[in-house]
Amino acid sequence: MINFADSSYVLTQGRKQELIDFLQDCNNQKRKIYVLCDTNTQQHCLHLLQTLFPQTKSASLYCIQQGESFKTIETVTGFWKFLLQQQADKHTVIINLGGGVITDLGGFAASLFKRGVDFIHVPTTLLAMVDAAIGGKNGVNIDGYKNQSGSIVLPRYVYVDTDFLESLSQDEKVNGYAEMIKHALVADQEFYKVLSEQCSFEKLQSIGKAIAIKLSIVAIDPFEKKERKLLNFGHTIAHAIESLYYSQQQDISHGKAVAAGIIVESYISNKMGFISDAELKQITDFIQSLFKFDEKDIVVEKLLPFMMADKKNKQGQIRFTLLESIGKGIVDIAVQIAMIEEALVWFSKKDSGYGV
Ligand SMILES: NC(=O)c1ccc[n+]([C@@H]2O[C@H](COP(=O)([O-])OP(=O)(O)OC[C@H]3O[C@@H](n4cnc5c(N)ncnc54)[C@H](O)[C@@H]3O)[C@@H](O)[C@H]2O)c1
Repeated sequence: MINFADSSYVLTQGRKQELIDFLQDCNNQKRKIYVLCDTNTQQHCLHLLQTLFPQTKSASLYCIQQGESFKTIETVTGFWKFLLQQQADKHTVIINLGGGVITDLGGFAASLFKRGVDFIHVPTTLLAMVDAAIGGKNGVNIDGYKNQSGSIVLPRYVYVDTDFLESLSQDEKVNGYAEMIKHALVADQEFYKVLSEQCSFEKLQSIGKAIAIKLSIVAIDPFEKKERKLLNFGHTIAHAIESLYYSQQQDISHGKAVAAGIIVESYISNKMGFISDAELKQITDFIQSLFKFDEKDIVVEKLLPFMMADKKNKQGQIRFTLLESIGKGIVDIAVQIAMIEEALVWFSKKDSGYGV
């Protein structure tokens, strides 16, 4: 069992050999290797995986449709059935090659198959590199409600290699940046300054810093009793927006939903007496320079029911992670419905300059 305080399971390019040795060992021991990918990562990333790790060339492939709407228990069941048909056993190793949808779903499937088999994440989006693949949270959506079933089990390894980002669209890179900004906002003022001044999406140093922030928070509180909730900043609103979109058969990227969530939850932080007007303006201006929101993104009355299903709620109250200041988050703050409505209305009137 890997210790959550031990971050050595995250390998960057410089430690590629450790994964080569592990996979070679699997091949020598005749352990079966499976690669889970989606339609895009099969096309753009599989070849690079096989070039970096020739031991995966003989692995069996299971490819799912790309997109959040396939992060479901039905997709997992399909994968499990495939593994059974292939006579995959307890010694099987699953490599999850993809963005956060693949790492969340593949980690969930692997953590339960035969009561748990080894799995390796090879994140191929910026978002998965800095967030989804790190920290052991796995899960699927139920009826469009985000991550309602899941497990907290660490992968055997995560291999972070920015070469996978070469085929990633600019929009997807910006999506990943939203999670990096979130990490900085809740934990590191200096890093926030760097991100807002440099805006360079693939900078290895910044990716490493974002991963280090996440690892350090997970190490203190792997099962989200307290500190890990910091990483949920922006996500109460984001998950409700994603669920609303799903219910309307529309798509919105997780990163864009998080970006909207950061703005709305910063407003709440300000109105509840935490961050200053200047900080709120700084955050909204920065996020707005990266993302363009449509008014239809926010339909106030429709969002609230989705928030009631949020995992962070306690005894019927909607609880938020907010910002005490830039670089310092604060968890478990109960927020009145009227305040949430006010924040959403303010956000939806973005053309008037967010009212700050
Ligand atoms: N477990 C966690 O701690 C955690 C944290 C944050 C987010 N998440 C989850 O992560 C998911 C979002 O992740 P995401 O933004 O990576 O979404 P994603 O996996 O859907 O990837 C985004 C798109 O990029 C494509 N893609 C992936 N890699 C590519 C590459 N290298 N080249 C070209 N196309 C590529 C995918 O096919 C998809 O179309 C959400 O489900 C979210 O809930 C989980």
